[in-house]
Amino acid sequence: MTIISKVNKFVKSKYDNDEYNWIHNEFVTKHALKLGKLLEADLEILEIAARLHDIDFSRGKKFHTEDSAKLAEKFLKKEGYPSKKIEQVKLAIMCHTHSIIKTIKRPSLEGKILHDADKMWLLTPAGIARAIAHRYKENTSYEFIIKTLNKLLNFFSELQFDTSRKMIKKDYELCRKFVEGLKDV
Ligand SMILES: [Fe+2]
Ligand SMILES: [Fe+2]
Repeated sequence: MTIISKVNKFVKSKYDNDEYNWIHNEFVTKHALKLGKLLEADLEILEIAARLHDIDFSRGKKFHTEDSAKLAEKFLKKEGYPSKKIEQVKLAIMCHTHSIIKTIKRPSLEGKILHDADKMWLLTPAGIARAIAHRYKENTSYEFIIKTLNKLLNFFSELQFDTSRKMIKKDYELCRKFVEGLKDV
């Protein structure tokens, strides 16, 4: 069994009853690899990091980046994956969170790509729908939901590569029109 198959099996077992997270994972992995091919990144590191980037939410969203990098390290070590490559996977996972990539001196190519693939999800109808559902659950006001959605749309200009912007532009335009329409009630 290849390391990629082992990682996939591990992630699937973790997401057993969580359809949403699996859909997000599939989106991020697919788009990361698409970008990775165009930008000539290390596709093995990228695929492993994409699959494992949200693997540990046990202490909540605030710590999930660090926790996922740690759990990825633990899993890959156990599988005998080379330590230099484990460091590359961990760095890419750390970069996927916008507030963290800004603090990293030399984010890797794979990290920047993973960041974009993760944020591109928020610029799709599925990402927007999920954000609305989340906010309704939290009983927030209609105005606050619109404010949150506009914040998500701002990620379009925060993407690291023009290639990412080109790839997600259609979805972004659709979501932007939708959010603008929400204001006209
Ligand atoms: Fe995340
Ligand atoms: Fe994610």
